[in-house]
Amino acid sequence: MDYTRIESPLDRFVATVRAFADGGARGCNVTVPFKGEAFAACTRLSERARRAEAVNTIAFEADGWFGDNTDGAGLVRDIELNAGVALRGKRVLVLGAGGAAAGAIDPLLAARPAALVVANRTVARAQAMIERFAADAARLEVPLSATTLEAPGASFDVLVNATAASMQGAVPALPAGTLKPGALALDMMYGAATLPFLRWARGQGAIARDGLGMLVEQASEAYLVWMGVRPSTFQVLTELRREVDVAVAAAQAAEENGKGTGAGA
Ligand code: ATR
Repeated sequence: MDYTRIESPLDRFVATVRAFADGGARGCNVTVPFKGEAFAACTRLSERARRAEAVNTIAFEADGWFGDNTDGAGLVRDIELNAGVALRGKRVLVLGAGGAAAGAIDPLLAARPAALVVANRTVARAQAMIERFAADAARLEVPLSATTLEAPGASFDVLVNATAASMQGAVPALPAGTLKPGALALDMMYGAATLPFLRWARGQGAIARDGLGMLVEQASEAYLVWMGVRPSTFQVLTELRREVDVAVAAAQAAEENGKGTGAGA
């Protein structure tokens, strides 16, 4: 099996994927900023992709493209299996209301937390997003609400940062007490860009986690879509972790030497 990177011109996403499919490929992953375009281009969608309105995994079929979204499932698997935190009965706070956050909502609801709160800089966007999931939340009896970053509520067990703040070297300004001591605070990004968030989280007494495990778990889930089997992730995650740690240490050393570029992952 070959798996490689293709860079698409911003205005030629569909043509780029079509050319790849015509070459005999089985499918592809899609990343920022094309997940919305991929959603629009697919002829068949999984339920979780339909609700997220974002596609990160396409399987090329004889009669069209099947679009799925494995991001949220990858997130939940990373939290529950790799970080060892069962979400059932927990208070969960998601920051952000873009595509990254939307992909996480369905799988988080399915894990049956005690409450799921979505906080966003623009509250109206969070409100509009959760409305798409209201029926599901009611069926699963999970209270789902939208709020501001300034007053998200207190004592959360799990925090998921799905904002683009880390890309800008920023940390969403949450009040003290948002997290329970020992809470899990996870940033969907990884690499040097996440350091401010991870530092902040540790300062709040939380267990800080980057998005590397989510990356690996969503890939495993995508492999399942294409090949019908789910590869084990432990070794890949261990090896990637080592590589990322080395890269982050190098970036930190460069910064300390005054040569830092401020660049992220
Ligand atoms: P994606 O598809 O990657 O989620 P997006 O749709 O651009 O990207 O959404 C980015 C999210 O990060 C949004 O929730 C955005 O908040 P707004 O809806 O108010 O724009 C959030 N975001 C970006 N920069 C941020 C920052 N510096 N602090 C807090 N939230 C930020």
